[in-house]
Amino acid sequence: MSIAELNALLDKRHSCRAFLPDPVPQDQIAQIVTSASRVPSWCNAQPWQLVITSGDETDRFRDAMSNEAENGTPAPDLPFPTSYSGEYQDRRRTCGWALYSAVGVERGDREGSAQQMMQNFALFGAPHCAIISSPAELGPYGAMDCGGFVTAFALAAQALGVATIPQAALAAYSPFLHQYFQIPDDRLILCAVSFGYSDTDHPANSFRTERAALGDFVDWRG
Ligand SMILES: Cc1cc2nc3c(=O)[nH]c(=O)nc-3n(C[C@H](O)[C@H](O)[C@H](O)COP(=O)(O)O)c2cc1C
Repeated sequence: MSIAELNALLDKRHSCRAFLPDPVPQDQIAQIVTSASRVPSWCNAQPWQLVITSGDETDRFRDAMSNEAENGTPAPDLPFPTSYSGEYQDRRRTCGWALYSAVGVERGDREGSAQQMMQNFALFGAPHCAIISSPAELGPYGAMDCGGFVTAFALAAQALGVATIPQAALAAYSPFLHQYFQIPDDRLILCAVSFGYSDTDHPANSFRTERAALGDFVDWRG
């Protein structure tokens, strides 16, 4: 594969926030997971474990997750960021406003933005959801290895025409996820990845995020 082909795949992937209901064939899901598992991990521990839902299981989970987000209290296994400042705050605002303006939510429309936020828990209509966990004993490096896995999952999916969105929003309700999927307490729930085929005409999928220039984040020495 050339760098041009790799960049084409990287450019094509984006976070999908409206899916068609059509399921992804099981053998393709297995292919995506197999490809993603080729990523490096410290000591080759391969700390990721996944629960993957399909069909009625996804719909049951969508309903239960939405209900939990309405009525439950956030308690993520992995501490959420305490704040975003400077350029991180700017980038966060920019991508947030890109989404809200794409779906017609105006500044100050708290109800509209809350409704859009709730779409996370309805899995943006995706027919599948993967819940990713890592052994607590591996700490932040286990989570780091799983981050690589999530990225490779998204790229492998894209290579098969399958759209994805990583979602920390669901991990806010980790105690619920442990109980719902019987994920043992010695594992940290890191995030979810909802996936399926993109509803390309949906306004939520009409914008793209930008990336900082190299000079903003590389300190060249020598
Ligand atoms: C670990 C992780 C968690 C994320 N959680 C959410 C989320 O809960 N909800 C959401 O809408 N997007 C979520 N995203 C998607 C990011 O907002 C998105 O990757 C970023 O804005 C860059 O846009 P792109 O993925 O379209 O390139 C998450 C991404 C990552 C990597």
